[in-house]
Amino acid sequence: MSKKRIGVLTGGGDCPGLNPAIRGVVMRALDYGDEVIGLKYGWAGLIKADAVPLKLEDVEDILEIGGTILGSSRTNPFKKEEDVQKCIESFKKLNLDALIAIGGEDTLGVASKFSKLGLPMIGIPKTIDKDLEETDYTLGFDTAVEVVVDAIKRLRDTAKSHARVIVVEIMGRHAGWLALYGGLAGGADYILIPEVEPNLEELYNHIRKLYDRGHTYAVVAIAEGVQLPGFTYQKGQEGMVDAFGHIRLGGVGNVLAEEIQKNIGIETRAVILSHLQRGGSPSIRDRILGLLLGKTAVDLVHEGKSGYFIAVKGSELVPVDITLIEGRTKNVNPAFYESVKTFFNK
Ligand code: F6P
Repeated sequence: MSKKRIGVLTGGGDCPGLNPAIRGVVMRALDYGDEVIGLKYGWAGLIKADAVPLKLEDVEDILEIGGTILGSSRTNPFKKEEDVQKCIESFKKLNLDALIAIGGEDTLGVASKFSKLGLPMIGIPKTIDKDLEETDYTLGFDTAVEVVVDAIKRLRDTAKSHARVIVVEIMGRHAGWLALYGGLAGGADYILIPEVEPNLEELYNHIRKLYDRGHTYAVVAIAEGVQLPGFTYQKGQEGMVDAFGHIRLGGVGNVLAEEIQKNIGIETRAVILSHLQRGGSPSIRDRILGLLLGKTAVDLVHEGKSGYFIAVKGSELVPVDITLIEGRTKNVNPAFYESVKTFFNK
């Protein structure tokens, strides 16, 4: 059994579950007598060869801690050819046998490109958006849903006390998973997601109906990526584009609240949950899965595998060709949304 020198990095938006995954990598690597090197702030760490050794004592107590002890960033080395070369040089300089990249479509897309260039890569899926193709689950989603559910519960108290409508804006970029699951599990009175064109008349009628039957409040969940007629976040947020070409979202909840108040005359407020959804201690699911994904990644390195990411398929962790996720996102099926409307459009 040959010992390896394994790099690990976390890229893209942070989320609960990253530290358990890092812990899983380091603890499994110790079984093989490997060395683990943590790259700082995602791909920026590989560009600069900014790395720290990760030992048992560095990861023992991080299971319940949110965020990532390695730091993260949205650095895209493929924006500049010289950064690609720097990464290849750092990989050699750090004497790495393989790199485990923990991230969403952007981070794993970069890992995929490097693996095509011959650098051994294994990916671990994470994002609160759960919008990664080829996997049923991404680390961080479960904890983020809990945050949304808790927020809705609190907002319902105030909505009820003041007979108000409260709009809660939920992250997820162009996918509605977090808003839909959080809204359903939290019992939101209406849910809007980017995959389905908003039917504002239906929403207004639903709120009127609620008030008429004595349910004199409403909590409306809206995903940040919903496009409302007359409001395009692209215009509002001009210039705010990250290294992967993503527009910074946020604000559609405020617009919806104004529209609701204007159209049905009920006092309406908006709450944007924003980064509250990304922090905090990982749920049990995100802890256990993080550990197992970290362990599996190290096992794959020892099996000599490269160019794979570990998909969650049912209760199995399955290595999948990492190139399959490049440039793709997984969205909510509109038919599924229509079918679960029965729980919030009564
Ligand atoms: O991809 C995770 C996510 O939290 C999205 O839901 C959100 O749109 C985006 O990241 C925000 O990114 P940042 O923290 O870079 O503003």
